[in-house]
Amino acid sequence: MAQVDAVIAERLRSDVALVNQIGQYIVSAGGKRIRPRLVLLFANALGYAGSEHYTLAATVEFIHTATLLHDDVVDESSLRRGRQTANAVFGNAASVLVGDFLYSRAFQMMVSVNDMRVLDVLADATNVIAEGEVLQLMNMHDPDLAVDEYLRVIRSKTAKLFEASARLGAIIAGADAAVEASCASYGRSLGTAFQLIDDLLDYDGETHELGKNVGDDLREGKPTLPLLVAMSQGTAEERELIRHAIEKGEVTRLPDVVAAVRRTGAIDAARELAGAEAEAARLCASALPPSRYKDALLHLCAQAVDRSS
Ligand code: IPE
Ligand code: IPE
Ligand code: MG
Ligand code: MG
Repeated sequence: MAQVDAVIAERLRSDVALVNQIGQYIVSAGGKRIRPRLVLLFANALGYAGSEHYTLAATVEFIHTATLLHDDVVDESSLRRGRQTANAVFGNAASVLVGDFLYSRAFQMMVSVNDMRVLDVLADATNVIAEGEVLQLMNMHDPDLAVDEYLRVIRSKTAKLFEASARLGAIIAGADAAVEASCASYGRSLGTAFQLIDDLLDYDGETHELGKNVGDDLREGKPTLPLLVAMSQGTAEERELIRHAIEKGEVTRLPDVVAAVRRTGAIDAARELAGAEAEAARLCASALPPSRYKDALLHLCAQAVDRSS
């Protein structure tokens, strides 16, 4: 990961001062670096001996960072990684444009690896992520959203990049088609578990641990699984409360909504579904040959579900 950080620092540079400033601002705040970790772990677990995995790991982190810059504008969020968001400090226009810089820098980096399969995977992933974000936008303020539609959004906006990261590790290691598919499947399941927990923490987490404001999803009227389950399991009164909150994007009754989400078992149900996804990922990783990289991949499955930040 130190090598990946070195690539990130080097490729973040631009002759345009504001690009450097915003790029530094968000990257120096840290982040968990899960997606680049997947690239390295799968490449290493499958015996890769070169150094292109560092470039690809930095590439997926740039794509991720670009989506965060854009996402915080769309979501009107003010806190990210324990700091004010870039849009709060530098404005929406600068955030969107520097997000575009990171996106296109990621494409320059992936081309340098000179492998058509790599380009295919990342072109596809970025396209699906964009679709997922648009789909989510269309679902805003809709309390009647079906759980399957919610799952379609999170598989697109989040799980797809996890899937691509895992798949890239397998591709550069020269894995055969079956192994590559299993790695991709690990990524898809882990990413789904990860976003299920992210959505749950918006009702059950702590701002100071998350580094993001809890309750943001409700303020936006985002129909996530905790709310969908609470509506299906709640009393008529609870159902009305949540419907109204989603339709109006109302955060004043957040404490009541949180209480309803807890009382109806929606937190437990969401955690259970995340646990099942993580278990599916664990099964994929368990087919890998023994190594400390495999152990780390197995450990990530537990961590993705059992986290507070
Ligand atoms: C945040 O991703 C966006 C989601 C997909 C939930 P991370 O939780 O991986 O963000 P950082 O990089 O660690 O800040
Ligand atoms: C993840 O969704 C966004 C992306 C995949 C870009 P969220 O909107 O829930 O992510 P956070 O909570 O802002 O990190
Ligand atoms: Mg957001
Ligand atoms: Mg979130």
